[in-house]
Amino acid sequence: MKSVHTYITKNKKRFLDELLDFLKIPSISADPKYKKDVKKAADFLKIKMKDAGLDKVKIYATKGHPIVYGEKIIDKKLPTILVYGHYDVQPPDPLELWNSGPFEPVIKKTKKHPKGAIYARGACDDKGQLYMHVKAFEAMQKENALPCNVKFMIEGEEEVGSDNLETFCKANKNLLASDMVLISDTSIIDNKTPSVTVGLRGLSYVEVEVTGPNKDLHSGVYGGGVANPVNVLCEMIASMKDKNGKINIPGFYEDVKRLSKKERVQINKAPFSVTKYKKELGIKDIQGEKGYSTIERTSTRPTLDVNGIWGGYIGEGAKTVLPSKAYAKISMRLVPNQHPDKITKLFERHFKKIAPKSVQVKVSPHHGGFPAVTPTNTVEYQAAHLAMKDTFGKAPIPVRGGGSIPIVAMFEKVFGVKSVLMGFGLDSDDIHSPNEHYGLFNYYKGIETIPLYFKYYAELKSKSKK
Ligand code: BES
Ligand code: MN
Ligand code: MN
Repeated sequence: MKSVHTYITKNKKRFLDELLDFLKIPSISADPKYKKDVKKAADFLKIKMKDAGLDKVKIYATKGHPIVYGEKIIDKKLPTILVYGHYDVQPPDPLELWNSGPFEPVIKKTKKHPKGAIYARGACDDKGQLYMHVKAFEAMQKENALPCNVKFMIEGEEEVGSDNLETFCKANKNLLASDMVLISDTSIIDNKTPSVTVGLRGLSYVEVEVTGPNKDLHSGVYGGGVANPVNVLCEMIASMKDKNGKINIPGFYEDVKRLSKKERVQINKAPFSVTKYKKELGIKDIQGEKGYSTIERTSTRPTLDVNGIWGGYIGEGAKTVLPSKAYAKISMRLVPNQHPDKITKLFERHFKKIAPKSVQVKVSPHHGGFPAVTPTNTVEYQAAHLAMKDTFGKAPIPVRGGGSIPIVAMFEKVFGVKSVLMGFGLDSDDIHSPNEHYGLFNYYKGIETIPLYFKYYAELKSKSKK
């Protein structure tokens, strides 16, 4: 491992420069205008994966954006780690809130990142984190220190729900056969407090359209006599939660797996300061479902949130208009055993039921994803524990995360293979927000930790076989 460490140290600057080039490609999967750039990011990755020493590197086309694959099989008898990541990014809007161009990476020092952080869309989610794996592999490969087989599957549609990934996986079962999936696309508690994510929430995402009159009307001439779809939509949304923060959709909580007292105590042991939380987010108070802590509200409890709402006049100045239509994009984060399709149906039924006769409503489901929990009593988890303990000087804390990564549940369903979520970002890195960034400390810490993960995993796995 010493030679791997030396290799990393020697190549530090190049590792960073390459990531900066990767970050310059606007691989926004949600916007069809960027289709070519998404492909460009896949091409970039293909070249870098080949250079790093991976074999069979290939871009696989899908109905949507392509998947980049590569592998190094050193001995068929040894276990195989499948590295998963995504090279697509979220749209950077609102652009005016960025302090520098989202695709013109710059390095700046911050309080949380005194050694500097890279500011760019995708710096943390997930280009920076997936690229750690490419560089960690390069170091192991060049120093002849790869202790087991490795496969890379990097997709370009994670941020839009990984719609084509399941088809690809099912069609390529042999190619993708592995013993575990290793993913760096989550956070640690802070740079002195490592953690491993052991749960993710699922997702049901819908878009709603509320139509009132058949055209926009003068809000003086008609106002007061006709239902205003924007007002109606707001009332409908407001009615979907009660004063205790419980979601009112009948059946919504039906399948939620209750946690034991012991599990809840364990989850609440993770360090958390409400004061710091409020200060960082610029809020005077927290809110949420009664009877649960903020940690629980943001990880083990389901949610319903408006992600965007519009309709009527939103230009400069005032235009007096009673709009014909109103829209909202609504996400529901799901927890174990909730089923995204079932929740979408329950939402649709409820939304139609509560709509007054004065409007017409339409519900269009977007992508979904299943929740997942990963065990801690396995060699796969233990390897992360040991690797992080070595590089951080402190054992990681297992924590359940609030975000979603659809592949985790899907991979378990299709292959019966579990994932380890060993991410290195911080929740405060502003992923999906303006000024997303990723600490240089975190980037290099990841590159150092991954080879140790491989080492411990291979060792523990061979011991467990004996
Ligand atoms: N990397 C995130 C998920 C994440 C972030 C998990 C931080 C835990 C901690 C991922 O790229 C993401 O944003 N996923 C989407 C889901 C998808 C179906 C659009 C999400 O959670 O909104
Ligand atoms: Mn991600
Ligand atoms: Mn994301």
